Amino acid sequence: MKVLVIGGGGREHALCWKIRQSPLVTELHCAPGNAGIAAVAQCVSIKPDAVGALVEWARGKAVDLTVVGPELPLTLGLADAFHDAGLRVVGPRKGAAKIEGSKAFGKDVMQAAGIPTAEARVFDDASEAERHVRTLGRPCVVKADGLAAGKGVFPCLNRGEAMAAVAAIMREKEFGDAGARVVIEDYLEGEEVSFIALTDGETIVPLASSQDHKRVNDGDQGYNTGGMGAYSPAPVLDAEMHEKVMARVMRPAVKELARRGEPFRGFLYAGLMIAHGEPHVLEFNARLGDPETQPLMFRLRSDIVPALVQAAEGTLRDTAFEWDPRPSVCVVMTAKGYPGEYPKGMAITGLDEVVRLPDTYVFHAATGTSGGAIVTSGGRILGVTALGFDFANAIERAYQAVDLIRFESSHYRHDIGKRALRR
Ligand code: AMP
Ligand code: GLY
Repeated sequence: MKVLVIGGGGREHALCWKIRQSPLVTELHCAPGNAGIAAVAQCVSIKPDAVGALVEWARGKAVDLTVVGPELPLTLGLADAFHDAGLRVVGPRKGAAKIEGSKAFGKDVMQAAGIPTAEARVFDDASEAERHVRTLGRPCVVKADGLAAGKGVFPCLNRGEAMAAVAAIMREKEFGDAGARVVIEDYLEGEEVSFIALTDGETIVPLASSQDHKRVNDGDQGYNTGGMGAYSPAPVLDAEMHEKVMARVMRPAVKELARRGEPFRGFLYAGLMIAHGEPHVLEFNARLGDPETQPLMFRLRSDIVPALVQAAEGTLRDTAFEWDPRPSVCVVMTAKGYPGEYPKGMAITGLDEVVRLPDTYVFHAATGTSGGAIVTSGGRILGVTALGFDFANAIERAYQAVDLIRFESSHYRHDIGKRALRR
């Protein structure tokens, strides 16, 4: 079977690493991939948002299955174009991907389906949004409606912060058209967890639970990022909570989208806040999480390829995943300055030493090659991932590997997984 993975981050490296292990796969390609992915797949130099070029390439190669990593191509209609060309694809059509592409649409789905979520209002006009903020009198979260690479969300503890967030999104247009509309919702306190499932629009097959670390600095300080590290499982998601999430969140969401004539086929990700023993949805994503995919793929024992084919064909029915009972932890190494400005092209050393460590793997998120050396090419650079017999051991192993890796002005959090340890 010929498989194509679309994307070039840590999530796609983890997917390729896992797919490569399937005896069903004869060829694995990744567009555009990165220097780490090149070790497990053949990289194809086509950008993820070049929908037409990707369809053409996949058709020419007679690719049997395409798996889409990032949200942008999905919201641009990549899955629709692949379906039209008679190509099998894992990822929702544009109409269903809107659950992530528009926060207002996501909220509407939640409200229609009775899914627990923060009380929210949507504004198309900056003055009206500001008037609302003035009367609110409690902490809120201001969100740009459209895609903003995880950076368009502003938790605001007071009126001043909320006014500044509205101004940045709607008046200064920091996120362009993505900020033509804002969602302003109540600020929820609790513990965040990522719940991801593979669905064919009807059957829902949950993955193991995982937990991200959104803030850039230790102790959950500083700016929100795409994610600074993750672990799996998330102890807060016990069997009872798992059932609650399936019953109150996942099944209603999948049902509501199908009812609207937009069945969701692909990975559906609910970002949850567990507060007072109840799950509340912060957002839906139309894809796997990054970096959550790294610890998840590292724990997945089943061959993922048959399930991917079934999701694409609408025949998931009796599928279930088997997981390594050992926990895994992924520490993201970034360039200093991320999520703001940062330098690129720094040489990375120590990767060859990590290869010798057991149950440890370095997924590349933004790397390239220059003169034979592996160099950084983005903000989030590596996802150093390890399995351990318990959380303490997995954390120790991941940081042991981090200690061996060097590049100029690197940054990482020192407290990934600490929360799981406390439980
Ligand atoms: P989102 O992209 O909507 O998941 O938001 C990014 C991050 O902002 C989340 O992972 C949370 O850490 C935080 N966040 C979003 N919505 C809320 C909320 N209603 N209350 C508290 N924090 C939130
Ligand atoms: N790690 C959060 C996300 O993928 O959206």
